[in-house]
Amino acid sequence: MSTRTPFVGGNWKMNTRLESGRSLAREVVAGCDGVADVEVAIFPPVAYILPIAGVLGKTDSRILLGAQDCSSEPDGAFTGEVSAGQLADCGVSVVIIGHSERRHVIGEDDDLINRKVRAGLGEGLTCMLCVGETLSQREAGETDAINEAQLRRGLEGVGPGEVERLIIAYEPVWAIGTGRTATPEDAQDAHAKIRGVLADLFSGDAAAAIRILYGGSVKPSNAAELFAQPDIDGGLIGGASLNAQDFLAIIDAARGIKKGGGGA
Ligand code: PGA
Repeated sequence: MSTRTPFVGGNWKMNTRLESGRSLAREVVAGCDGVADVEVAIFPPVAYILPIAGVLGKTDSRILLGAQDCSSEPDGAFTGEVSAGQLADCGVSVVIIGHSERRHVIGEDDDLINRKVRAGLGEGLTCMLCVGETLSQREAGETDAINEAQLRRGLEGVGPGEVERLIIAYEPVWAIGTGRTATPEDAQDAHAKIRGVLADLFSGDAAAAIRILYGGSVKPSNAAELFAQPDIDGGLIGGASLNAQDFLAIIDAARGIKKGGGGA
């Protein structure tokens, strides 16, 4: 039976400048020295991916380099876009797709998100698909239906051989950057339902092996109780990832939470 290694990602969004980004990466690398039981990734702004790759590459750190988005297209006349293959060339191994800011601020729909997932997987990247409901959808009792629809549409056409390169991030839109966090029980409930949808889409074994991260105002003070839930396999961290000490404390909270070995 597969076990799930916890995963903690730092989504820097459109923050940092070159030097502050480099020094943040250096602090994270230093703080992760010897951490082997959590997979850690940082997602710098695309402009800084190569310099940050340089910081990560100078050490034997196992920190993964991530990108916050990728194009749905392999190459061509798409001004301003960056393809999954170009990211892979720069050392990126994991890409966030369908983050709520891209869905709700930039206006990406499930069809585009699905094409991005397939583009990322096609280039050998691990794809972290983000799903989650807005506040009005939560209040209308639609959380599980929204998550299910975003999963089904976002993962259309993903083959069984690609499932091991999938990570899901459940990020309730109302919790992102707001200081409000889902209760561990509410988050666990959503995660368990998400795992059920994945089992239906792929298989029970595949679903048991996919990491499902929680995102939305995760902080050192609430990380441990969230990560203690049986279907929460780590977190996607925004604001708190910009402070190395906070990010490292959250990584620490994910140590030793490996799950899934007992069955399912
Ligand atoms: P937050 O962002 O931790 O600042 O709420 C999470 C995210 O958007 O991934």
